[in-house]
Amino acid sequence: MRIAVFSDVHSNHTALEACFRTAEARGADLWVFLGDYVSDCANPRATMELLYRARREHDCVFIKGNREEYILGHHKNGSDWQYGMSTGSLLYTYRNLTAEDLAFLEALPNVRVINPNGKSEICLCHGSPEKTRETLHPFSYNVERWLLKIEQPLLMSGHTHRPLVARNGEKTYVNPGAVGIQATETVTAKMAFLESDGRGWQPELVEVPYDVAAAVAELEQCGLPELAGVWGRAIAKQLREGKNYSLFCVERAAELAAGGPVLLEHWAQAARDFGID
Ligand SMILES: [Fe+2]
Repeated sequence: MRIAVFSDVHSNHTALEACFRTAEARGADLWVFLGDYVSDCANPRATMELLYRARREHDCVFIKGNREEYILGHHKNGSDWQYGMSTGSLLYTYRNLTAEDLAFLEALPNVRVINPNGKSEICLCHGSPEKTRETLHPFSYNVERWLLKIEQPLLMSGHTHRPLVARNGEKTYVNPGAVGIQATETVTAKMAFLESDGRGWQPELVEVPYDVAAAVAELEQCGLPELAGVWGRAIAKQLREGKNYSLFCVERAAELAAGGPVLLEHWAQAARDFGID
């Protein structure tokens, strides 16, 4: 039995479609999705339609990511999101989703335990089993801590956008990396496969080339560089180069704000510092 694993699409439907072709070519029996389906890239409805197609054509398991929590929180309680700054990316995403999309995302659990081969359970979450935003970075104590803590032999999560297989004794952690937005200094889409050996699961991390120029062109055409300000332009550069410019700009702007409110001028300076135009 073979499982295909996808995480952190971030509305990059061009990358997701390439990953689907890889999963179909390899004949995966179960498709697992680890959240952060939408935001950052253009046309979130195209990503949602791909998810619905996957659900129609394959056995699928979906859980919720932190981006879905943001979108659903805005839907229920409102927010101060505005165009022209980083929150404009979320606002654009929210305004381009349908009621059906929101209902689909709302129904997703944060954590699931599955047992597809009947022999070896897998715990699925976006960040950690406790928090969608917890980061399990490579070589971190946090990975070891969760491997000690979980009852299942395999833990899978995403969120860091960094592919990883880590082991501690009989326990394994797998992060497939991100389909849509890279933080690896490579531009290929990332995904993983798990192969059942009759008892446990053997993971394989995979890189999938896709049409990066098409994803960037669509992002620029839909207006995100203006709607989301520096954030939108940082995402475009990140798609082209694979470097984590969006996070670097958040951190640089906060550093320039020196403990005060982060203003547009801090974002503008961060953009200049990282050559984001
Ligand atoms: Fe993410």
